[in-house]
Amino acid sequence: MSNPAGRAQWHSGIGFILAAAGSAVGLGNIWKFPGRAYEGGGAAFLIIYILIVAVIGSTVMLAEFTLGRHTKKNVIGAYAQIGSKWKPFGILGITTGFIINCYYIQVGGWVMYYVFSYLFNAAAVYADPQGYFLNFLGAGSFPVLGAIVCPMIFAALAAFVITRGVSKGIERFNKVGMPILFILLIALAIRSVTLPGAAEGVRYMLTPNFAMVTFDTWLAALGQAFFSLSLGMAIMVTYGSYVKKEENLAKNTALICVVDTTVAFLAGMIIVPAVFAAGLTPGKGGSFAFISLAAVFENIPGGAFFGVLFYLLLFFAAITSCISIMEGTVAAVTEQKNISRNKATIGIVTTSFLIGILYTVSQASMNIKGIWWDFTNGLTFPVFGDFMEYLTDRLLIPINALIGCILVAWVWGTKKAIEEVRQGGNFPFKLAGLWSFSAKFIAIIAIATILVMGLFMGRALS
Ligand code: ALA
Repeated sequence: MSNPAGRAQWHSGIGFILAAAGSAVGLGNIWKFPGRAYEGGGAAFLIIYILIVAVIGSTVMLAEFTLGRHTKKNVIGAYAQIGSKWKPFGILGITTGFIINCYYIQVGGWVMYYVFSYLFNAAAVYADPQGYFLNFLGAGSFPVLGAIVCPMIFAALAAFVITRGVSKGIERFNKVGMPILFILLIALAIRSVTLPGAAEGVRYMLTPNFAMVTFDTWLAALGQAFFSLSLGMAIMVTYGSYVKKEENLAKNTALICVVDTTVAFLAGMIIVPAVFAAGLTPGKGGSFAFISLAAVFENIPGGAFFGVLFYLLLFFAAITSCISIMEGTVAAVTEQKNISRNKATIGIVTTSFLIGILYTVSQASMNIKGIWWDFTNGLTFPVFGDFMEYLTDRLLIPINALIGCILVAWVWGTKKAIEEVRQGGNFPFKLAGLWSFSAKFIAIIAIATILVMGLFMGRALS
């Protein structure tokens, strides 16, 4: 099928690759991967992670891209085109993206604040890293800066890029943002590995310690791969729908997976050696990035400067991902409801920003709870912010990835998907047989496993 008249497309192949890589490279790579690699035995985790990305992650990503390009529709329209009964799962997909968007906007705002904190007020961060962060988040009163002002600026920036359109907004922004991200990443990795005392951390990251690998390590690597590759969030179907038929989807999928994994590895080479050099233990998530890392920057020469670079790195990683998460929902609302792109973007960014306020307010210990249930702990009432992450990471992302895989492999059929990749023989796709086997069996079994383990065993995937 040719491109429906007037529907957006990526202008160039490299534009698509950078936009999809920009979506994949996000907070997950930079503040979660290094901590997980540390816990999972350094290079041992890396080997497992690469295996999972190569066999399962790339399979699901290619399935999402082919479905998108074939249908030339947003995720709801794409699912409905394959079978009208599947439409509700498309809605579930954009709901997942919408929930992630709510907290991504908030954290993006915090990251921006920390760029300026290290630029103008590093001494105050060093003096009391935890107090500084909690104070920013409100420390008992309403977190105006943390929940409103900074996230609003961040959200407005992402929304502005989206309203400019797919090629003129998203593609152009990523063409500038991603090279900046790569430069920051390399500069910070060089700084980190050359710190006095960093050699031990470098050795840790490059030596496979399989004694630290447990079943949990495999589950953590699976969950990390899905989040990091932006799968099961309605993004890659949407981004795939903007790809021209002249593009080799299989090759581009491999490239995007390699870029995303390389960035995660380099983030590990920034965090682990620097943290070892400072005599600390690598951790993950917000409290690690905003609180623990202050001790590292305080103790290295030119630390405040490298602090600015680090939060700028996080900023570019977060905004390019946030744009993609928002675009999945914007495309669906625009096309399904026939609403203009500007109106859809404004509506979505405003509602996700408003709901996101609860994320920060709850993290600032203002006692807003969610409800969660699993077989190990039964009914629990976690902090609302944690509940949002449980819901997306443990439940919705694996469900969406599973449904997407079943839809492509069993309903639409891998034969048709392979034809979509091959484009009448224009592209060879030598691994078609392997991909088909993985999509039909391996990926589905692996995703079902993380889903069940997340509920039955209460495994932490976030
Ligand atoms: N893939 C994005 C990340 O890693 C969502 O944060």
